[in-house]
Amino acid sequence: MTHPPFDPTRFHALLRTASFGRNLIFEPIVGSTMDLARDAAHHGGVEGTLVLADEQTAGRGRLGRSWLTPPAANLTFTLLLRPPSPVLRQVAMIAPLAVVHAVEETGIRAMIKWPNDVQVGGKKIAGVLIETESEGGSASAVLCGIGLNVNFDPRAHDETREIATSLAVELGREAEREPLLASLLLHFERLYGDAKAGVSMRDGWRSRLVTLGQQVRATMPDRVVEGVAEDVDDTGALLVRTPDNQLVTVEAGDVTLRRWRPRAPPRDA
Ligand code: BTN
Repeated sequence: MTHPPFDPTRFHALLRTASFGRNLIFEPIVGSTMDLARDAAHHGGVEGTLVLADEQTAGRGRLGRSWLTPPAANLTFTLLLRPPSPVLRQVAMIAPLAVVHAVEETGIRAMIKWPNDVQVGGKKIAGVLIETESEGGSASAVLCGIGLNVNFDPRAHDETREIATSLAVELGREAEREPLLASLLLHFERLYGDAKAGVSMRDGWRSRLVTLGQQVRATMPDRVVEGVAEDVDDTGALLVRTPDNQLVTVEAGDVTLRRWRPRAPPRDA
């Protein structure tokens, strides 16, 4: 199925942010938007620079996985941020929360599977990939890559059929990408501004995590932990209660739900 190409002029007419997305680098086809954003960061790209592509030939996901990017179907972009250090770790909460809020403007309830998959009805609708660029030992830029399934049909591919969904599948009709991106960036910019002003993301984060209260297996870079996902801390890290009553902080890694129990979405937040 063919989809109309992204329309940057229309997107800019709809954009309500102060800076996010105002500097747009749009390419019909790239390897990965992460690489273009890295180049932009190294060449003095301003905070809020958005690298957007209609298609990626080497899209990548977390933990070395690949990311499927069919032509013009989805929102596929990397946002360049230059956060002060207290906000650095918050970006991993802000990005999926911004996606959740934008998806919900279409009338669909969304939740987050820790660390940053956005899900609808237990199926993945968006993924977030965060890469940090350092200079002289401190972070000089954060590259926040987001892939949001908009008009993609996951039922048409073996690797996505059982585990993924898209806005079009959930809505039963195609969705327009330009207003959706404008909305997502406005939510992102607002949450980022809140975080910079010292507002904690923890409550919003906690209220959206489908992972909490579940029996999980957390695969960290150096070990595997099993237990109940009890809570999160201020940085967004998952706190897992093991059978021997230890509370283990999981900062990075992957989590699988061992026995899935549905968690009711909140009424607000
Ligand atoms: C994941 O769930 O594993 C993260 C997926 C992130 C995909 C996005 S698409 C835009 C950006 N460019 C990439 O190559 N990856 C991210």
